[in-house]
Amino acid sequence: MHNLAESTIVPDMAAEQCGGKPSPEQVYRYFSKLGLELRRAFKMHAVAGLWERTPEYKRDWGNVSEHCLVEAARADVLSDLLSFSSGLKGYLRMAAAVSDYFKRREKEITRGSSDPEKAFARAEAESHQLLKEAGFSDRIIYLADSTGTVESILKVAPDLLEKENLTDEEIAYLALHYIDDYTVGSDWVTPVEILSDGTVKNAFDKRMDDLDKRYPDLKASGFNDKQRNVGFQVEKRLAEIISQKIGEALDPKQIPEMIDQEIVRRIQLH
Ligand SMILES: [Fe+2]
Repeated sequence: MHNLAESTIVPDMAAEQCGGKPSPEQVYRYFSKLGLELRRAFKMHAVAGLWERTPEYKRDWGNVSEHCLVEAARADVLSDLLSFSSGLKGYLRMAAAVSDYFKRREKEITRGSSDPEKAFARAEAESHQLLKEAGFSDRIIYLADSTGTVESILKVAPDLLEKENLTDEEIAYLALHYIDDYTVGSDWVTPVEILSDGTVKNAFDKRMDDLDKRYPDLKASGFNDKQRNVGFQVEKRLAEIISQKIGEALDPKQIPEMIDQEIVRRIQLH
């Protein structure tokens, strides 16, 4: 059995990136505690082979667990900004933590498949089945499916954006979809940049630019633009909702930095 306290899933977030504070020990303590609170999700990472070690004793897939842990920390803060109940916040954190647990198996199942669509559907069905057998609720599975799935980008998120009034659970779906859109590995977000032509780029825009470069075929097919457009609308909608809650205007571009600044504040309280 894997012991999270001894695991290496604590993200290697460089302390100097947040002004030398907090200390690496504080970062470690914060993420270790979060990982322990979400151990039910991380157990699934172990079950699905993410923690297997190479002969050199390295965890080749451990970065996926780190990525999920960072998304869970961001989901925790965004839930508070959106005034979710503690119950819904718990579901969203758990969904973030489990969201990519099947990455390795998915790759194995889809690799070299002559019918990728069918292979992805099979991987998804297998992943859901394992989660259900382990006692994860449909609610958590629904929220976890918000992250980067084709269905989420082309159907579920756009349909939600059409609605005038959203339930908190639907907002939670969009929130995690957005977090996954801009989270790169387990890195802190970089500050908003204003280019010489006046274009403003935040972590979300930079991630989408990166996807365009890495996947020119998806860019050419129009898929990347759809993903960017949905993410952009979600960002705007989340800013509107947060603005209403906090009673002051919020620039959508600031959301990723605002979330990380709050994580840093919480780390320092540890
Ligand atoms: Fe992810």
